[in-house]
Amino acid sequence: MNQNMKAQILHLPIYQNKQEILNLIKNPEISVLIIMGETGCGKTTQVPKILYENFPLDNQMICITQPRRIAAISISERVAEEMDSKIGDLVGYSVRFKEKMSKRTKIKFVTDGMLVRECILDKKLSKYKYIILDEIHERSIHTDILMMICKDLIINKKRNDLKLIIMSATLDPKKFMEYFNTEALIKIQGRKFPIKVYNISEEKEENIYNNKNNITIEKKIENDYYDLISKYIDRCLNCILQIILSQNEQDKTGDILVFLPGQEDIEDLQELLKSKKEEINSLLPNGNNIEYKVLPLFGSLPSNLQLKIFRPIKNKKGKNIRKIILSTNIAETSLTIKNIKYIIDSGFFKMRKFYHKLNIDTLKVTKISKNSALQRAGRAGRESAGICYRLYTQEEYNNFLDQNEPEILRINLRNICLQLFSIGYNNFNEINFIDKPPLDNFNNAFEDLISLGALDKESKNITSLGRKMAILPMDPIYSLILINSLDNKYRQVFDDIVAIISVLQSDNIFYNPNNLREKIEKIRERFLDPISDHLSLRNIFMEYKRTVNREKFCKENFLNDKALAKSMEIYKQIKEYLEKIFYDEFNKKNSETQIEEKIEEIDNYLNEMKNKEKNEDKNELIINCLLSGYFNNIAKYSNDNFFETVKGNQLCKIHPTSVLIKKPKLGKQYGYVIFNEMIITSKKYLKCCTLITQQQADKFISKNKKFI
Ligand code: CDP
Ligand code: MG
Repeated sequence: MNQNMKAQILHLPIYQNKQEILNLIKNPEISVLIIMGETGCGKTTQVPKILYENFPLDNQMICITQPRRIAAISISERVAEEMDSKIGDLVGYSVRFKEKMSKRTKIKFVTDGMLVRECILDKKLSKYKYIILDEIHERSIHTDILMMICKDLIINKKRNDLKLIIMSATLDPKKFMEYFNTEALIKIQGRKFPIKVYNISEEKEENIYNNKNNITIEKKIENDYYDLISKYIDRCLNCILQIILSQNEQDKTGDILVFLPGQEDIEDLQELLKSKKEEINSLLPNGNNIEYKVLPLFGSLPSNLQLKIFRPIKNKKGKNIRKIILSTNIAETSLTIKNIKYIIDSGFFKMRKFYHKLNIDTLKVTKISKNSALQRAGRAGRESAGICYRLYTQEEYNNFLDQNEPEILRINLRNICLQLFSIGYNNFNEINFIDKPPLDNFNNAFEDLISLGALDKESKNITSLGRKMAILPMDPIYSLILINSLDNKYRQVFDDIVAIISVLQSDNIFYNPNNLREKIEKIRERFLDPISDHLSLRNIFMEYKRTVNREKFCKENFLNDKALAKSMEIYKQIKEYLEKIFYDEFNKKNSETQIEEKIEEIDNYLNEMKNKEKNEDKNELIINCLLSGYFNNIAKYSNDNFFETVKGNQLCKIHPTSVLIKKPKLGKQYGYVIFNEMIITSKKYLKCCTLITQQQADKFISKNKKFI
């Protein structure tokens, strides 16, 4: 790190409070410390460093949680750079299915979900001397659980040496001070660079966002929902054009970060910006071309593409090109993206909500909270002054909620309950959550877990199957399917099942540019199974696995190389997990070497079995094995290509990305479908589907009738 950067860091507002932080940390009476300070003041990058540089760690570590992978990875890289260390050395990170750590690592960035998982093996989190829970205002379910666990460790004296630090820019400290029974609050004043915020005003909307240049936006308007979408996409586009076409000197530099609700909106706007490029340039005086690069950013984008937003993009002459980043709320907190000067905030995000009675997980476009608006603006003004355009009126802003509903109150608790059980928290009446979900929500999760066999029906204790399921870092439904695939009955399709689930756990493997759809369909035809998305995914993955030149294979078939590479990583890791479970079961007393021999023996056996089998029989076995976990995810053909879910009785269409769309008659013929998830946008859709017959469905529906 150069001297200039060092000096800049020491000027961050947090250093005015350094002594105060040191004093509170030194104070043996204080176990929980709350740090508040505006976005960009230096909390996330500097607090772990201040701890490391001033207190001995002995053999322990400093752990900092982030609600999102991209933040954990990018910030750990920054802190490593600031400490002149290679990532994975002194500073490391650990996120699901990806880790850069070594024995020397002292500062560890993790996603909050990873740290909850670590509790399963180390209930007291004894590796860590300091735990920093960052971005606490987001109230992600895992952060809430970690607050509960850390509070239990501290208040009940299970750990005497642990110091907990919770941090945020936008939190109401009262609630947290009461919860942790602490007075230790540090408020960091000021920010380094100003951010000017503009709202649209009804009358002035025309002035600010009027499309003076007469660039038209073609968007099909079908109903109110599309009306809403076209309105914010339209406003975002206009706002971007205002900036990039501006003749003001100060508008000619600086990158733009736009917040939109979801992937579809991002891709729509990306397409619009691309198609308008010539039109935009034709509006400028001769030879005055505008160069810009649009970069999408959303959760299911492969992480190497996500990380692209952090790197400068050069043109042929080596000059930096202006970046326009179109993002969901995954860039809302924590991140510093170099050179961002403009924020455009649509005012919407997609909120996940689970309806227990209907067994539906929904993603709905929802107005953001005041907290989110503040965080979004705070992505600018980090290295220089910034400007934030809010595409909503001041009055609309005034009506926003102060903060979003905490995740623990609105999502499916099945996964978290299983984890809590396996950590040892099984009396839900006694657990001290900061916001307690209604008992009904827990009961629903219990019912699910009982039907999956993870909890004992009578005693409500975790079963040995449940413990195995908790080891796998994924939804218990997938864990169950994977564990079942170890059964003699399914063992010959073990590889196929692991393949399918690995792809489902990775990012979207399909690359579908709008203008090439038909061509792509033809090219991919040979992989596709007419009745099953699951089997199609298996076919693609297996071919990818066999292929030597994988990059070429992906290019030719319009597949996402990185997403498939990630599936491959996950595939290997799941196999490791399963082998562990398998051997714990059968070879408890065997030595390591015997285990290795056993692995080989089983692999040989599996290969032999596989070669003997015909594909059709295999496919049926695969579907049955999937059904053994998906038995709640069955829908019956109704009419007009609608399917009705057996649990919850929801009428749904098959998602347009499914192979089943091509042969709609088959749906009626088979009669039933299993699906990976139901999503609700303007309609209800079943995503990733496989057709099954009544006979197949009956076997599983009747087997689990009591639970449906
Ligand atoms: O956590 P908080 O929002 O308080 O700030 P931070 O993430 O610790 O970042 C503090 C400052 O470090 C930012 O305002 C940037 O000036 C700088 N920084 C940077 O230049 N590049 C990064 N990758 C991270 C931080
Ligand atoms: Mg931060």
